[in-house]
Formats: sequence, C-alpha cells, structure tokens
Amino acid sequence: MASNWYKNAIIYALDVKTFMDSNGDGKGDFRGLEHRLDYLAGLGINCLWLQPFYPSPQQDNGYDISDYYNIDPDLGNLGSFVEFVDKARDRGIRVLVDLVVNHTSKQHPWFERAREDRDSKYRKYYIWLDNKPRIHSADTVFGKEQGGNWEYDEIAGAWYYHTFYRHQPDLNLTNPEVQEEIRWIMRFWLKLGVSGFRVDAVPHMIRRKGNEKFQGDPHQLLREWRDFAETQRKDAVLLAEVDTAPERYRDFFGDADQMHMLFNFYLNNYLFLGFARQEASPVTRALKKLPRTGSGEQFAVFLRNHDELDLERLTKKERQEVYEAFAPEEHMRIYGRGIRRRLPPMLGNDRQREELAYSLLFSLPGTPVFRYGDEIGMGDDLRLKERNSVRTVMQWSEEENGGFSRASSEQLVLPVISEGEYGYPALNVHLQMRDSNSFLEWMKRIISVRKECVEFGRGDFEIIPSGNPAVMVHCCRWKEGFSLATHNFSDQECDIVLDTKALAETEVIHLIDVFGDKIYEDFDPKSKKVRLGKYGYRWFRYSSFLS
Ligand code: GLC
Repeated sequence: MASNWYKNAIIYALDVKTFMDSNGDGKGDFRGLEHRLDYLAGLGINCLWLQPFYPSPQQDNGYDISDYYNIDPDLGNLGSFVEFVDKARDRGIRVLVDLVVNHTSKQHPWFERAREDRDSKYRKYYIWLDNKPRIHSADTVFGKEQGGNWEYDEIAGAWYYHTFYRHQPDLNLTNPEVQEEIRWIMRFWLKLGVSGFRVDAVPHMIRRKGNEKFQGDPHQLLREWRDFAETQRKDAVLLAEVDTAPERYRDFFGDADQMHMLFNFYLNNYLFLGFARQEASPVTRALKKLPRTGSGEQFAVFLRNHDELDLERLTKKERQEVYEAFAPEEHMRIYGRGIRRRLPPMLGNDRQREELAYSLLFSLPGTPVFRYGDEIGMGDDLRLKERNSVRTVMQWSEEENGGFSRASSEQLVLPVISEGEYGYPALNVHLQMRDSNSFLEWMKRIISVRKECVEFGRGDFEIIPSGNPAVMVHCCRWKEGFSLATHNFSDQECDIVLDTKALAETEVIHLIDVFGDKIYEDFDPKSKKVRLGKYGYRWFRYSSFLS
C-alpha cells in the first residue's frame, strides 16, 4: 500500500562517503552502496535516509552545500545515483534525501554572486545588514565560537546572517525567488525517484532573522511544501528535524498538512533519562505530553543520530544526571548541551541494556530510525573532532580498514576504529553474520517481528499501569488487533501483573508472546503474571486473525 507507507517503515540512515568504497579512493560511493543493497534488504530495512551527498566544501560534513542539483564527484554522478535508486526500489527500499535549505555553503555560486554584486538578484537570496548590528543576537546553534548571528563579509562590504557555522550563510526564505528555487530542488530529486526528504533545521527556517520575517503565518511555507511534494509524487514524505518543545510539535504537523513526520527529540531525551535512572516514568510522562498523531502524521523515533545526543529538552538537573551516567568525562560532552558518543559505549557495551534500548526503539509509537553501524553495535572515536567521533567508517570485515576501502588508512575520508572491543578486527558485519547470537542477527529478528506488529506503527497507543516504577507497559491498537510491549528499565528481575482493564476477555485469552529477551514461561491469562528479567522486555500481540 503506497499511502502512508511511512507509518510502518524501518528507516536506516547512512552517509554514502563512510559506508562502502568501491574504487579505492578512501571515500564511500554510490557504487559501493549499491553493492550493499542486498545486505540492507537482508537486514529488513525498507527506507534509507541518505545524508548530504551533494557537492560541498565539507566544512560541516556535507550540510554546507554548494550545488543542490548534483552529486559530489567523488561519490558518483547523477547516473549512478538514479541506478542506485532503481536498484533499491527493486528490493523494496525507498530513498529519502536531505533537504538543507536553511543555508548554503559560503562557496555556493549564489552567495558568491551575492557578495560581489549588490544589484544581483542573488543579493536578496541572503540576509544582510549594511551597518554593524547593534544587537548582536545569538540564535546560533554551535555556541560562542561561531560569534553572534552576523558576520562581516569584506567582499560584500556588509554583514550577513547565519544560524549555524559562519561559513553557512542563511537563505532568505521570505524571498519568493528562493522559495521557487526550493520547489525546483524538490521537484528535481523527486523526479529522480526519491520518496521524500529529511528536512533540515525546520524551525529555524520560518523564524524571524534580523529584519526578515514572513508576512502572515510562516507555517504557510511548510503547507506549500507538503502540497507541492505530494503533487509531484503522491507518496512523498517530509521528515522534519524539529528540535523544539513538545507543545510546539502540533504547529509543525498542522492539520496533517505540514510535515508528515517529526523526529521525536523530546521522547529521545527522556528515554536517556529513563536509562540513567533505571526508571520507566520519564518515558511514560514524556509520551503523555506528546500530541496524538493522526493517519497522515507520524513521529520518527530514534536513539542516536549523526550529531551529538542533544539533551536540550531536559532540565539542567536532568541533563546533569544523564551526563553523569553516560558521559562522565568532559571530552565526551559538547556544545554545553550534548554527548558525542555512540550508544554502546554509553551503555558500557552491555548487551542486555542495548537490547532494551532497541526493543523500545522498535516498539514505541512511531517509525524507528537508526544509523549504519548500529546493527553491529559500533563504537565511537573520541579523539576525532566535535561530532566526527560518531562518524567513523562502516566496519564490514576483518580485512584492512574493516573492509570499507582498499585505500591506505591515512587516505580514508574518516578513520576506521581499529583497536579494542569496538575495533574492526573484533566487531564487524562478517563476524556477526556467522554467529547466530550476534547483535546483528538479533537486530534482523526484531526488525522482522516489528514488521508483523504493524500496530506499533499505525495504532493509537495507551500506557497501561504496571505497578512497578521500573516497568513500562504500552499497547498500540489498530483495526482488530493490538501489540503490547513490556520493558523493565532496571537491573532487578521482577513480576508484574498485567492490568487488563483496557483489554477484552477474549483478547487476554488469546494474547501471544511474540518476542522477548529470552524464552519465558507462557503467559497465563488467569494469573496475568508477566515475569521480566534484568533489563528484560517482552512483546505480546493479539489479532483476531491469529486467535
Ligand atoms: C542539522 C544537521 C547537522 C548540521 C546542521 C547544519 O542539525 O543534523 O549535522 O550541522 O543541521 O546544517
């Protein structure tokens, strides 16, 4: 079914340049990625989010774009891109690409024209001040080192506005010509076969910047984008980065007429607080604060992404608790708000805790999104600068460079982890494929069960009281069935009695155990007792088709 496919997608994020190098130049490429499509299909994912692969000076990992209509020549060309999209589709895998239009690279020809010629139409593509700004506002994202929002440009003889790094001038989205460019960009990639966009920095795009602000409701722009994308391609989706307070999420869904999907940053933060405290209540409380999603809207659930684990949704005290548990040393933290580590090192490489985290990822209401390397439990390299710590190359095998590239290791686009428990000789796809107890094989299993438990993606959820502060029970209902999951956040084994008030008697009788951290004694509908081991999890399902 094409419509609302994203409600039950399994999304895998990757960066082409760090995934698989086919020509030995040290950079991953589209041909290499194409060779790995069968692996991805075997893993069970059905949607890829490709991080920016456009021409770029690479001062922000590709989020500094200098040409929206092309491929970085080191990664391939439009021909290899389209071939890849087709081959992905043959395997039932859709492709989303990043739409980064809050800003361009300083090296984008638009900006070059704009700074050289005051009368060029491109001047108005950006936001300028002729005189030194009196108020040096600081809506910047990367802290003090980027100064305020205004940067003086010698060539232009004026100040330009930037939200992120100073080499990323913000586009003036109130300018109709810029809006038209964005529609062309969307149309172009949709025509090449992509199923939609991961939209970067959405709240920043519609807020006031200096004297530039939208006339009327700025959200109208997002409505136009959805309408435009769906007109080009009925099943196109916009998956938005909206890291704001949960009270504002509804504003970005609109009436199912703005963003199709929002990354659930709020739930993400409270998951980590729950892990730190070994309590379920931070998560259940967070879920209750979220708006309900209708059939044309969805949350994207995630644990970690390519950036820092941004803990801005927590209070100062809560953030401190998470820091102490998962980033005890200063160099593990960044920008005064986050953690630059991958999940397994944060959880002490404890397989039971990792499974608990992923069991939540795959059962919490929404669509799960995870990243390359997560499926084998890849680690980080804190010697690398800023967020590069979590962007090391994919570890395929015991071969040199983890089988990622034939180039010499100094030539790699980003390093490979080569030593210790996370080093490629000990941790790679090839080893885990041959071991039925590996994390990779476990991930395949949970993904396949999750696909059967469609209710987690499509259903209305309900929190069921568990009577134990460490245990969360939630149930997602859709049509004639439901999926129900129980999670024990603590290291203490326990028994809970399933509160079945919300369920009909036949549903309780025909409840079946579909997944868990181990094989437990069968569920007894009379006692309704559910035993959970340390960090244990169990999924149950009822479907009128199964009973
Ligand atoms: C988003 C990206 C991040 C990038 C920033 C600026 O937040 O996730 O990696 O640095 O946008 O484009």
